[in-house]
Amino acid sequence: TAPILRDLPSLRAVTRDWHMAGETVGVVPTMGALHDGHLSLVAAAKKACDRVIVTIFVNPKQFNNPDDLKNYPRTEEDDARKLERFKVDALWVPDGDQMYPDGFATTVSVAGLTDVMDGAYRPGHFDGVATVVTKLFTQTAATDAFFGQKDFQQLLVVRRMAADLDLPITVHGCPTIRDIDGLALSSRNLLLSDRARTLAPRLFEELEGIAEGLKAGHPFATLQDQAKDRLLKTGFTEIDYIDLRAQSDLTLVTDTTQPARLFAAAYLAGVRLIDNIAV
Ligand code: PAJ
Repeated sequence: TAPILRDLPSLRAVTRDWHMAGETVGVVPTMGALHDGHLSLVAAAKKACDRVIVTIFVNPKQFNNPDDLKNYPRTEEDDARKLERFKVDALWVPDGDQMYPDGFATTVSVAGLTDVMDGAYRPGHFDGVATVVTKLFTQTAATDAFFGQKDFQQLLVVRRMAADLDLPITVHGCPTIRDIDGLALSSRNLLLSDRARTLAPRLFEELEGIAEGLKAGHPFATLQDQAKDRLLKTGFTEIDYIDLRAQSDLTLVTDTTQPARLFAAAYLAGVRLIDNIAV
């Protein structure tokens, strides 16, 4: 089984040998509570790289809501067990003071891309993500990193950050893994009641409905209004956004003459769900 490393000297001792041997090193950053979405990233990393490090760190800096941080599922033993069959080379599970020792004072902040959607609705969230991902990249000195399209805005923010800071790493985006009823897998799904869990796939269904409506030539604004109404009637309590945006830079678009995606974020029974699909 893979060693669980909790301090930087131990991590560096392991990765130094790999780099000396000229091996490629893939990193899969996670906050744990691993599901098949995470594991698909691990599989992609194993396929592409000589060595694979999975990181598990519930990053306090990216939680804009203290209750969300407190309630976030923590299942380290199960996580380690789920990773066994992938034969990864190391688990990087830093203690909080390894990541943010006393006096820590630096923030990595990506402008532009973070003005919209989750950047607007979760103040400080992407600063927290960009800061911790920068550290995970430099700590592991990985040559490749694997992220899910489930968090598409995060994927673009990380790509921008890595390019702007000349980090010598290739950022790979991997497809969203869904349950059989269409719900995008998410660690936060564990927080849904049985009843809420039956309603949750509606978010994806509405995105698919809008995509079909667009293909049939209906205007986005109408489709968006109808989808919001139906979600609220279903039991979603708040809809942060349902947007059609350019895939390259997340600017709003009204048609699909360029590669575009539909994005949604909404609350169901106190749990914030996000999803997106290409159109
Ligand atoms: P977390 O939510 O644990 O997700 C870790 C990685 O798994 C992210 O790249 C995310 O996009 C991917 N992922 C989540 N659900 C997925 C699904 N259903 N299909 C495919 N990939 C999925 O995202 C974070 O953690 C954090 O922000 C992190 C990047 C680790 C920084 O703290």
